[in-house]
Amino acid sequence: MTNLDLRTEVDVLVIGAGAAGLSAALRLASAFKVLVLSKESIRSSSTNRAQGGVAAVTDPDDSLESHVRDTIKAGAGLCNRSTVELVVAKASSVVEHLEKLGVQFDMENGSPHLAKEGAHSFRRVLHVADATGHAIATKLISRAFNHPNIEIRTDRVAIDVVTNRESSAQSRRVLGAYVYNRKSGCVETVRARSIILATGGASKAYKYTSNPDGATGDGIAIAYRAGCRVSNMEFNQFHPTCLYHAEARSFLISEAVRGEGGKLILPNGESFVRRFDSRGELAPRDVVARAIDFEMKKSGLDCVFLDVTHMSRNQIEERFPQICDKLDSIGIDMSTEPIPIVPAAHYTCGGVLVNYHGATDVKGLYAIGETACTGMHGANRLASNSLLECLVYAMTTADHILQRKDNDRSVREDISDWDESQVTNSDEDVVLTQNWSELRRFMWNYVGIVRTNKRLERAARRIELLKNEVHDYYSNYRVNGDLLELRNLILVADLIVQSARWRKESRGLHFTLDYPQTNVRAERSVVHPRLDPLDVFHPLPVAAKL
Ligand code: FAD
Ligand code: SIN
Repeated sequence: MTNLDLRTEVDVLVIGAGAAGLSAALRLASAFKVLVLSKESIRSSSTNRAQGGVAAVTDPDDSLESHVRDTIKAGAGLCNRSTVELVVAKASSVVEHLEKLGVQFDMENGSPHLAKEGAHSFRRVLHVADATGHAIATKLISRAFNHPNIEIRTDRVAIDVVTNRESSAQSRRVLGAYVYNRKSGCVETVRARSIILATGGASKAYKYTSNPDGATGDGIAIAYRAGCRVSNMEFNQFHPTCLYHAEARSFLISEAVRGEGGKLILPNGESFVRRFDSRGELAPRDVVARAIDFEMKKSGLDCVFLDVTHMSRNQIEERFPQICDKLDSIGIDMSTEPIPIVPAAHYTCGGVLVNYHGATDVKGLYAIGETACTGMHGANRLASNSLLECLVYAMTTADHILQRKDNDRSVREDISDWDESQVTNSDEDVVLTQNWSELRRFMWNYVGIVRTNKRLERAARRIELLKNEVHDYYSNYRVNGDLLELRNLILVADLIVQSARWRKESRGLHFTLDYPQTNVRAERSVVHPRLDPLDVFHPLPVAAKL
C-alpha cells in the first residue's frame, strides 16, 4: 500500500455516526463531499440503544416555557437559558424532520403517544415503543448510505485532529485528522476544511455503564489535545435503572417504565424513594440514583428492584416490547416479578465547550451531540433531552458550515503522513487490559455517585501512574484500537477528576460528602488545555473557572 492510498481529501470530515454525526452529514451533503467515520460497526452507538424517546412540546396543554423550566430546574443552576430556549423551540422542527425521514412515532387517537419521564411536568416524550433510537438510527443510516455526497467508513478510529501549530488555540485552524484503520492496521490521513466531532460520551470510564463499548470520550480528548476548553466534566449522569444480571450487562430499563407507574422496591418489597424526595420514582435522575446507592450501601445489597407488575402482560408487550423480550430471554417475566436493577454510568453532561453553531476554540473544528457542552444540560440532563440536542445542534452546526463555504475553501496547508519510523509492535498488550479494568474500577469506586476529597485524591494519584505507563506505551509501540481508547479514557478521567476536585459544593450530579451544600452562585467548571506538543495527554495541573 502506498502513502497515496492512505490519503483522502474531503470538504467535511464527520467523526461519529450517531444521531448527531449522521444528521449533520445529511444536511451538509447538499453542498459538500462528506466523509463519516464510525469506530466500529455503523450500529454501535448510544443513539442505536436509546429507548425512552425525544422530548418535544406537542400537547396543547403543555408549553415551551414549561419544557424550558423543567430542563433548567433539572440542570441545577448551570444551564444556559438561551441554549435551552433555542433547543426547546426547535423541537417541533426536529420531530417534523424525523417524520419526513420516515420515523413513525407511536400514535394514540391521531396524535403522538406521549411518555412521562422523570422531572418532566407533562407527558412530552415522543417514542417508537421502547426502541426509539434504533428507529431513528435506521432511517439516518439508510439515508446516509444512499447519499452520493456521503462516504461512510466503519472500523476507523480517529486518533487526533491535525492543526497548524499556532501558539494560541484561537489562531489555530484544523487541517485534517489521523485515522487508525482497525482492519488494515494502517493509519490514514484525511484532509478536511471542517471537522465535526460527534463521537458520543465517555461513560465507559466507569465499570458499570449503559453505553456501548466505544463510549470512551474520544472526541473530548481529541478536542482537548488540539487546544479546546472542556467544561462541566464532573457531571456524569448515572441512570437509576440498569438491569442487574450476570447474562445481560449494560442493558437499560427505560425511565418510561417508571413513567407508567413502575415502583422501586427493596428486596423485602418496601418502597423507598419517597423518603428521599416527594416526587418519588419520577424525581430527577441524580436524586433517584443517589437514593438507590444509599440503600444498597446501607444494607450491603447487590441490587434493588423495579416493580411493574401492576401492568398486564399484554400492556407490557405493547409498550415495552424490547425490554420484555430481553427479560424473557434471561427468564424474567416483568409482568409477574420485579426486575433487578442497579444505577450505571449513562451520560456525559460536560464536554467540549461550543457556541450555538457547535464551534470549538479551534477554527474549523466543531463538536456536537454528547461530545459537546452546549449549556443545555447544566449539572444534570433531563430525560430524553439528549437526542433532541443532538438533532438541533447537527442542524445549526451544519447550517453554519454551509454558510462559511467560501472562507473555508481558502485553506490549503498540507499535513504530513503518520510517522511510524520510531515505534515497534507491542508484545505486552496485557498492560492495556490491566490498565483498562483498573481505571474503570477506581472511577466507579472513587469518582461515582457519591464522592469525597479523599476518594478524588486517590483517583488523581492513580491517574498519574496510568498516564505515565500509557505515555511510554504510546511513544514506543504501534497504535491499536485498545491503546487509542485507553489513552483517551485516561485523559477524560483526568478531566473529570480535575473538575470534580475544583468544585467545592454538591450540585446536580456532583455530590460530595465533604461539601454537601450548594453554593448560592452557580459556576460552570472549565479546564483550559496546555499546549505542549510533546505530551500525549496535554494535562493541566488545575481546573480553572472561566
Ligand atoms: P453516539 O450515538 O454515541 O455515536 C457516537 C459515534 O461516534 C459512533 O458512531 C462511534 O462509533 C463513533 N466514534 C466514537 N469515537 C470515535 C473515533 N475515535 N473515531 C471514529 N468514530 C468514533 N437520550 C434521549 O434523548 N432519549 C433516550 O431515550 C435515550 N435513551 C438512551 C438509552 C441508552 C441505553 C443510552 C446509552 C443512551 C440514551 N440516551 C437517550 C442518550 C442518547 O442516546 C445519546 O446521548 C445520544 O444518542 C448521543 O448521540 P451522539 O450522536 O452524540 O453519539
Ligand atoms: C431512558 O429511556 O430511560 C433513557 C432516556 C434518556 O437517557 O434520556
